[in-house]
Amino acid sequence: MDAYFPPALQEHAQRVASLSLSTLFAQDADRFNRFSLSCHDLLLDYSKNRLTAETIPLLCAWAQAQGLEQARKDLFAGKRCNWTEQRAVLHHALRNRSGQPVMLDGQDVMPEVMQQLERVKQFAEQFRAGAIHAADGRPLRNLVNIGIGGSHLGPEMISQALQPYGQSGPEVRFVSNMDGADFVEAVRGLHPAETLFVLASKTFSTRETLLNSDAALQWLQRAGISGEKLAPHLLAVTAAPERAVACGVHPERILRIWEWVGGRYSWCSAIGVSVAVRIGFDHFAQMLEGAHALDRHFCSAPLPLNMPVLLALLGIWNRWLEGASTLAILPYDHSLRRFPAYLQQCDMESNGKRIDRDGQLVGYPTGPILWGEVGSNAQHSFFQLLHQGTHAVAIDFIGCANSHTALHGHHQELLANMLAQSEVLLRGRSAEEVAADLRTEGLTEEQIALLLPHRLFPGNRPSNTLIMPSLTPFNLGLLLALYEMKIFVQGVLWRVNSFDQWGVELGKKAAQQLLQESRQLQNGQAVDLSDHDASTQGLLRYLVNCMLR
Ligand code: F6P
Repeated sequence: MDAYFPPALQEHAQRVASLSLSTLFAQDADRFNRFSLSCHDLLLDYSKNRLTAETIPLLCAWAQAQGLEQARKDLFAGKRCNWTEQRAVLHHALRNRSGQPVMLDGQDVMPEVMQQLERVKQFAEQFRAGAIHAADGRPLRNLVNIGIGGSHLGPEMISQALQPYGQSGPEVRFVSNMDGADFVEAVRGLHPAETLFVLASKTFSTRETLLNSDAALQWLQRAGISGEKLAPHLLAVTAAPERAVACGVHPERILRIWEWVGGRYSWCSAIGVSVAVRIGFDHFAQMLEGAHALDRHFCSAPLPLNMPVLLALLGIWNRWLEGASTLAILPYDHSLRRFPAYLQQCDMESNGKRIDRDGQLVGYPTGPILWGEVGSNAQHSFFQLLHQGTHAVAIDFIGCANSHTALHGHHQELLANMLAQSEVLLRGRSAEEVAADLRTEGLTEEQIALLLPHRLFPGNRPSNTLIMPSLTPFNLGLLLALYEMKIFVQGVLWRVNSFDQWGVELGKKAAQQLLQESRQLQNGQAVDLSDHDASTQGLLRYLVNCMLR
């Protein structure tokens, strides 16, 4: 890993490795101001990372030498940054509010983007007004989004996060899993005659989405909605309209996305139609404004004052200096409880790669394992490990100063907990402090000696804190684009393609073969399983036997 960084940065890292966060804070009363910055309403405090005034300039100089600024230009200029699939990466065009063109192969993509956005707007407004009808003239009141991965996680997370903005809106539910239980739960209590399904799939070939779409058609048919009567109940969002038509969707009921929209970056495309229905198009548009504002900041702010660049560099720094191979995302806001799951796909599917742009195996760790949970729940599950375990974990705390709810006392206490956790992780508790505590508790010196090592907190554990005044659509747009651009920067610096996902393909193919074999076994046919390892063979036979019992 060391060879990956220039000598000046390596020497610097060696010096910083011997410093403690407590000492750094003790030496500099201005540390918070020095190591925090704002982008619109988003504040990033990164002072609780082990770094000095020299660190960021050195990291930025390295990033510059790695060609970060040129890569950023290429992204916004429509170059084919997804080089293994020869695709441009233009999710920034979907929220481009500048009125300026975004060029792809000499053509401006913005007219098409704006046209689809207008269609999203019309559909969402009509649906919310009860003006989308079934064949019998009844208004459709419920919407079920069928999709998975990027066609699910973003829309579901956003609908939940901004739910207070759409309180009077229609019922919007989500189905993703191929486990039928997900579909059954999603339609529980809904009336087929009043329900519309959004079939959201960029490729329209994803097994889960096709299975669930089929279940939706059957559910409607069982209620007597078939033939021509089906069309009003379906809306597709896809880059493969011909496949949607083949599945029974009316050609006029298809919203378009394009191959240059990566699934995990697609919330701001027509994939967001369920969000627009849930919270209203104007709020959806405010999210786009927020994301665009972040894109502009990313394009124009100097690297040391550029929030996504800083977040990316800090991530790389913590992987290296602290050996933190995992990143915990800890939103202290119930509305953001699905944010870690959403970000998990965005980050891990993007940078979970090991081959660099020259086709070589990288010699350094790339994308971290991203995980997380909402605070304060997380404090009562895995925080023990964060404080006293043996793993180095990088942490992003995310908090909103004001809550969506009227229980302000709760929220203040929640935020106090967030601050307490990052402070305690930084400071720890020394042997002297612990011994003093135990003496006050009335323990004998013998008891203290026994208990002391267990009550020590090493501290010196780094974290970032992101704060926004409240979780508005604009601020959520800022937050999502912040992490998207952070991921882009890390991909550039790790020299991997953040925009393909070949790693998910092999398992899909293997599942198809196993499904066929499982059916054959179930039908009592002789099947040659010698292609599989003994474990897979044994498990398959065991499962089929159980099914036959
Ligand atoms: O299997 C991974 C993946 O291709 C993701 O990248 C994508 O978000 C998800 O499947 C769903 O794909 P689609 O929108 O084409 O159904």
